[in-house]
Amino acid sequence: MIPPDPSRIMRIASGYGVSKALLSAVGLGLYTQLATRPMTLGEIVDTFGLKARPAQDFLDLLVSVDLLERDGDGPQARYRNTPATALYLDRSRPEYVGGILDIWERRNYRFWADLTDGLRTGEPQNETKYAGTPFFETMCADPVQLAAFMDAMNGASIRNFQALARAFPFGRYRSMADVGGADALLSRQVAAVHPGIDCVTFDLPLVSEIAQRKIAAAGLANRIKAISGDFFADPLPAADVITMGMILHDWNLDKKKTLIRKAYEALPDGGAFIAIEAFIDDARRSNTFGLFMSLMMLIEFGDAFDCTVAEFCGWCREAGFSRFETIPLEGPSSAVVAYKD
Ligand SMILES: C[S@@+](CC[C@H](N)C(=O)[O-])C[C@H]1O[C@@H](n2cnc3c(N)ncnc32)[C@H](O)[C@@H]1O
Repeated sequence: MIPPDPSRIMRIASGYGVSKALLSAVGLGLYTQLATRPMTLGEIVDTFGLKARPAQDFLDLLVSVDLLERDGDGPQARYRNTPATALYLDRSRPEYVGGILDIWERRNYRFWADLTDGLRTGEPQNETKYAGTPFFETMCADPVQLAAFMDAMNGASIRNFQALARAFPFGRYRSMADVGGADALLSRQVAAVHPGIDCVTFDLPLVSEIAQRKIAAAGLANRIKAISGDFFADPLPAADVITMGMILHDWNLDKKKTLIRKAYEALPDGGAFIAIEAFIDDARRSNTFGLFMSLMMLIEFGDAFDCTVAEFCGWCREAGFSRFETIPLEGPSSAVVAYKD
């Protein structure tokens, strides 16, 4: 019998180094710089203040995994973006998704070193472990962190929101409330595509201020209102459609159920509640990203977790929702629509 090949084990085990090289490249701003022109090793070393020998390994490692292209060999070779890095990792482009990678570079990569502690204790492994301050308070306490968190959410959500704005018939409804709407990204996408719907984006006070600025800059102040509040302490804004993008996964089961119940109460008959998440497949076998996100919630919050579509629909049924539909979005993410008939 031929023994199984260990190479997959080694590839995944060493993947943390490959992942870190990509995060370093985003953190340095390498892809944004290369968008202006291809560069030699010497130019990259000078621009970013790197040491030439390890920098060459760093760049060629990225070439080896198709996250950079290199024209030629030797000192005159020029590094340039691949079509995908040019589109998605150049900070100046609207398609930029690097915000989430940037925050993983600044924060999460280090916290994952303590994953085993998290598995043993069920406790968060982020700043909370040392400072005792919960995640959202840590973010809101520092404008730089908060702006980086908003960029991260944009990177994680933009393609999902664009896909949802196209796939769901928002045009049949008159109002939408995006609960935990961050900088109003979803409202801005929906309002831009569907002229007949008015939107409310609801979030914590400091976040709502950012949303207000983004709405004004997009010229959508007549279509989108930013309302500040606490989705546990305050009633949710009433609307025909209530959306929650990556909200439920931030909380434990009791709080998930509270938010679902509040969404049900805020909707009229005929209304729709849409959760957008990296829902784990019901068999819990294939959505690696959803399972990764769920462990990320352990790292960030301790008792929070991502769920399967079946679990979500079960909790919605308990709250009174009667009919469900799943809309596949970008890659591992989907939107599940729960209808209040
Ligand atoms: C993971 S982000 C999701 C952002 C956005 N919906 C998306 O999918 O990109 C969670 C959002 O919930 C907001 N949030 C957290 N606790 C909240 C609370 N108690 N009341 C209102 N918003 C809250 C955060 O400020 C943040 O914008």
